[in-house]
Amino acid sequence: MILGVNVDHVATVRQARLSFEPDPLTAAALAILGGADGITVHLREDRRHIQDRDLRLLREQVHVELNLEMAATEEMIGIAIETGPDLVTIVPEKRAELTTEGGLNMIEQKEHLREAVKKIQAAGIPVSLFINPHVMDVDIAQEIGAEMVEIHTGLYANAKGKHQELEFERVEEAVRFARRNGLLVNAGHGLNYFNVRRIAAIEGLRGLYIGHSIVSRAILVGMERAVREMKALLGRP
Ligand code: PXP
Repeated sequence: MILGVNVDHVATVRQARLSFEPDPLTAAALAILGGADGITVHLREDRRHIQDRDLRLLREQVHVELNLEMAATEEMIGIAIETGPDLVTIVPEKRAELTTEGGLNMIEQKEHLREAVKKIQAAGIPVSLFINPHVMDVDIAQEIGAEMVEIHTGLYANAKGKHQELEFERVEEAVRFARRNGLLVNAGHGLNYFNVRRIAAIEGLRGLYIGHSIVSRAILVGMERAVREMKALLGRP
């Protein structure tokens, strides 16, 4: 089970003062020492945390999977092709949101995404689509040629009691359906040290992508330890 650590919020703290610290590159190096199998950054249109320079330097330094999260815009597609991350995860992006609020609108965006996937893949970069846990969205992801999907776990993470059970079942069903259709399947968003175990136990999952909770713990106990503790909860090598 791959653990991709999202270091965006290290840059969030740096940008709060337009300073040189803390450095996401150092955070990435420590995350890798702690056992991270991948490093994720989201280069947002408004550059609120990760900057273009961070991405370039990470590409030079990171030898594990570098996953670039991005909106499917011409600008970002150009940057992805120029930088050459190991994986591009296409996410929806709204300026006013605090964080990614949900999966892609696969019905409305289908043709636009098909084109974006084709352009990125033509540069030799595999593409993952961040989708809601709906069977129909999995179907569309496969139809437009993505090799991978990341199932949105935010609703599971935020729900309580019976609702959480229902959301869990949706994630589980989407993972099962995607695997049956030959896609590689990841999951992420809102996962933390308390709710990750059930998701990690889902059969067939390739990996989890986690940011906020790991960076939050890293502030208190250090990045290496925070990653090590998360890896231990995933339970599988
Ligand atoms: N996966 C995707 C596609 C995301 O957009 C994010 C947030 O940037 C994450 C995973 C990580 O979510 P969190 O920070 O809640 O762990």
